[in-house]
Amino acid sequence: MTDKRCDPMAGIASRRDFLKLSGSALVALTLPPHLRRPGLPARLYARQVEYPRQVIGRLSELEFGQPVSFNYPWDHPASTNFLIKLNEPAGGGVGPDQNVVAFNSLCTHQGGPLAGQFHGDRGVAGPCPLHLTTFDLTRHGMVISGHATLGLPQIILETEGDDIIATGVLGLIFGYHSNLADPNA
Ligand code: FES
Repeated sequence: MTDKRCDPMAGIASRRDFLKLSGSALVALTLPPHLRRPGLPARLYARQVEYPRQVIGRLSELEFGQPVSFNYPWDHPASTNFLIKLNEPAGGGVGPDQNVVAFNSLCTHQGGPLAGQFHGDRGVAGPCPLHLTTFDLTRHGMVISGHATLGLPQIILETEGDDIIATGVLGLIFGYHSNLADPNA
């Protein structure tokens, strides 16, 4: 039995849980009796969200702590993200050591640019140059300190052989009303 006090992954969602949380699957929700209301169906359906699948890099080409930029889900400046290999396993991490993650590069407070502020050795992004928010890249981009109240949007990753594939975004990208509404339109 695992002692959670000693488990370095305690508090980090497993990859399977992470994918469940991503909202990328169609979910049928059956309401418990105490939440049912007249006129409301007993079973509700969430709309499936379809993100593109896009190869964004190769495991064999990543170096520890060296961020690689890519655009996803759109070819747009706000869709600039960083793929990075950390020194430790991370929530949503892929690769043999579950330490390869990707995040959007705009601070969720007021859109401050975090390019150049991804630190793989410490597993953090920031401090943001505007108001100093810092995000934890090992725990789904949650805020460590600063003004932002929302975590950094995490790019959901899968691997196929050596390929690293972006399959979705967990969290709303700053400046978007929807991650899937084309900002170039
Ligand atoms: S814009 Fe990043 S902390 Fe304000």
